[in-house]
Amino acid sequence: MKTDELREKYLAFFETKGCVRRPSDVLVPTWDPSVLFTPAGMNQFKDHFLGKVKLDFTRATTCQKCLRTGDIDNVGRTAFHHTFFEMLGNFSFGDYFKEDAIRWAWEFLTDKKWLGIPSERLSVTVYRDDEEAFRLWQDKVGLPESRIARMDEDENFWPASAPSQGPDGVCGPCSEIYYHLDDGSEVEIWNLVFTQFNRVGDPPHNLNPLPSKNIDTGMGLERTASVLQGTTTNFHIDNLFPIVQAASEVCGVKYDYESDNGRRLRRITDHARASVFAIHENVYPGPKDAKYVIKRLIRRAVLDGYQMDLREPFLYKLVDAVASASKVPYPELSETTERVAQVIEAEEKAFFGTIDGGMKRIEQLFEQMREESGVMVPGEEAAELNKTYGVPPELLQTLSAEQNFTFDWAGYRKAMDEHARVSGGEQRVLFQTGPLETLKEALRETPFVGYETTQTEATIKGIITTQGDEGKDDGQLLSHIDRPGDVELRIVLDKSPFYGESGGQVGDTGIISNSNFEFVVTDTQRHAGLIVHHGKLRHGEIHTGEKCTACVDTEHRTALSRAHSATHILHHALHKNIGKHAQQQGSKVEADRLRFDFTNQKAIDEGTLVQIERDVWQMIDAKAPIEWKTIPLADARAAGAMMLFGEKYPDPVRMVSMGDFSKELCGGTHLTNTGQVEAFELVVEESVSAGTRRIEALTGSRAQSHRLETKELLASIATTLGCDPSDAASAAEQLTGDVRQLKKELSAGKPVEHPSEFVAKKADVPINTEDYNSVRSAVREITRKLNVSVSDVVDRLSALLSDRKSLIEQLEQITAGGKVSADELMSQAENVGDAIVVVAETPGGNANVMRGWIDQIRKKSDKPSAVLLATVQNDKVILVGGVSRELVDRGIKAGVWVGAAAKVVGGGGGGRPDMAQAGGKDPSKLPEAITAAKDSMRKMLEKAT
Ligand code: ALA
Repeated sequence: MKTDELREKYLAFFETKGCVRRPSDVLVPTWDPSVLFTPAGMNQFKDHFLGKVKLDFTRATTCQKCLRTGDIDNVGRTAFHHTFFEMLGNFSFGDYFKEDAIRWAWEFLTDKKWLGIPSERLSVTVYRDDEEAFRLWQDKVGLPESRIARMDEDENFWPASAPSQGPDGVCGPCSEIYYHLDDGSEVEIWNLVFTQFNRVGDPPHNLNPLPSKNIDTGMGLERTASVLQGTTTNFHIDNLFPIVQAASEVCGVKYDYESDNGRRLRRITDHARASVFAIHENVYPGPKDAKYVIKRLIRRAVLDGYQMDLREPFLYKLVDAVASASKVPYPELSETTERVAQVIEAEEKAFFGTIDGGMKRIEQLFEQMREESGVMVPGEEAAELNKTYGVPPELLQTLSAEQNFTFDWAGYRKAMDEHARVSGGEQRVLFQTGPLETLKEALRETPFVGYETTQTEATIKGIITTQGDEGKDDGQLLSHIDRPGDVELRIVLDKSPFYGESGGQVGDTGIISNSNFEFVVTDTQRHAGLIVHHGKLRHGEIHTGEKCTACVDTEHRTALSRAHSATHILHHALHKNIGKHAQQQGSKVEADRLRFDFTNQKAIDEGTLVQIERDVWQMIDAKAPIEWKTIPLADARAAGAMMLFGEKYPDPVRMVSMGDFSKELCGGTHLTNTGQVEAFELVVEESVSAGTRRIEALTGSRAQSHRLETKELLASIATTLGCDPSDAASAAEQLTGDVRQLKKELSAGKPVEHPSEFVAKKADVPINTEDYNSVRSAVREITRKLNVSVSDVVDRLSALLSDRKSLIEQLEQITAGGKVSADELMSQAENVGDAIVVVAETPGGNANVMRGWIDQIRKKSDKPSAVLLATVQNDKVILVGGVSRELVDRGIKAGVWVGAAAKVVGGGGGGRPDMAQAGGKDPSKLPEAITAAKDSMRKMLEKAT
């Protein structure tokens, strides 16, 4: 039976039992802060289980995309583990329970019409104390006692060990179904969870029976397919093996099940699949949380490739294979293969750039540990490998484990000074608790009336004190409060015209009041379905249950709407001018200010930016009507509305259209015609991360005042540079050119004459200061060239002017100090083994210059080199030392070398392994320090070779 057929059969079977077939939730549920990735089919139904939402159905069935990292070390090694996998599930929300769940699972598995698995192949486990489940298997299904095992809470409770260890929230005993393989081993294929308790606090009396009992089940699609197809591993089933084969081809190695390469190809297959699905949902490799997991998966796969002698990106070539193997259930993957491949390739390139050095370093480290009979890989080494070579610690841990070394996580974290969760444990808390959750259980949701009106009569439903971290659901639920003043409070109403921050648009502000009190709303947030008003009580006292008027600050709201409508217009203009790949990656809408992140590899050139702005202005001038309506999701899709992959859309959805050019699914607030945007100014175009660009823009009066500021800025730039405004752009370029040139001369130690004051030249193409467009383009070019934000331009130019001055002074010092040069220093080199050692005093040098010489010597020398230079400045000794990469790889550290020499002159310092600097107080000891440095390097080199 094909995997696609199995998936369909399962869903169809449970439809015959009255379950409603629901689509998979997204893989990366940004709506759910408690998990990084969807870990199970039940995740999208958590509120259903708790009765916190209005139930449109009480039975459901799904096939859910899941990702778990808990078993990552087993992937490829064992037959049945994955990170990414699909989970088939059937769910009951206070409807059918244990008996039906058990009988139907059995029917589906064994009935000839469905899977027809011979019943003697199956056995089950139940929770130790779950007598009811035991009886059902025995009496209703007819299983002999010998095939029903009783297990403890660590195996047969979900979440595992919940009774003794938590988390609080709904949980229940479970019953697992095992399939017996020909080799005598068995594999778990289905977990039936009888969600019947709400856990509160510690044992013994912490399991409270739920008023209505639920069913949550999960069947591993790949495992069951493997069993039915009789394959040795999940990776050999029909929808995975093509990816294994593609990997074998791309890597140029034969696939052999039992070999190391076989395991590697399976791991590559798994990680490619996980990465493609996540990146498809716009989760790019990055430094933390879900992004970090993806980065780790890609790098792990790359390392596998590296160990099969690949030296160029290869993983990205598997994107098509993944999309095509998954095309029946997830046809949308094929729409983003190009973008996904680009992202993977970029990450691969980054890692391949450093992996060689990293692997050498790791091998040395292991070698050294074996020699010294070490057992634990030191945390500082791991941190160094991560910082210098981008080797994720988890990867090093895996490699260490292969050598039977343990890994010092505590030391690593300390060394990274990074106590934050870098490894991204996937399951933090399963269910949230707190005052907002309590309100949610009572109210379910706050109806939002703010599209139609900005003022309404309402009733106070909850008052919550705010404590601890922002965004956390803590604090206390109060029935009244009578302390006006500085305390932050949150208020929940029975309905509200306040827009709670979502879809990038920040929350409304305003006033909630009646004759007894006035509450100033400074922000509005959404907590699942609740609208939560944050603010302070200005006077009076508030009681829950009393009537009040909720009144939105309309000026602020209109400014938000201007920025939001402008965002849609900009999105359209981007698609028109740079292409449909410019997918939204993130957006922030504030009062007359917007930030829009989108996919694009390169910076957008000034010409295109100007065109984008023109197009936006044109759409504003057109005064096109803006309309919205709520329609079925399928209709919106058919109408060609812009949709984001990985976004969880409600059904029906709200579609916002502008004229005939833009249709987006959006819950934000908007103007009624594009003309009301009034003005639009694009202020920033910059990079956010590899493959993602950011545009910031202003609307309304902010855009208008920005025009004035831009003109003023050009004037200040001109004043700073001492030139005419029309020459400002070329003068800024002249100055950066000067500084670049001076730095070059300094590092080469070859001074050239320069006028000591900066004198701007006349521009070849002067800025037309009468034309605002050219003024703005010029200012933008200048900011971009200087790589600073608008507010820092003048400071940056002043800094460059003083850099220029000090560089010239340094160069003059060199001219005065004699003719030290890299060549001259190299002629003093001493040969030690295959390396050269230069240790010298360089009068007149400074740290910068000395570093320049060291760099030059390292470049010029065809042998590994170690260079330490010293000079005396203002009665202090400066020491700079550097060693070439080959020597770093042999374990020689510049920091250690320089540090030892500095001790002799009464000082200290340090730096990177390849370049370090130190100072000393005692110039009289310099000759001694130089001799000591020569000796110690000789010794280090001899020891290292
Ligand atoms: N939620 C249950 C599991 O993940 C079915 O095993």
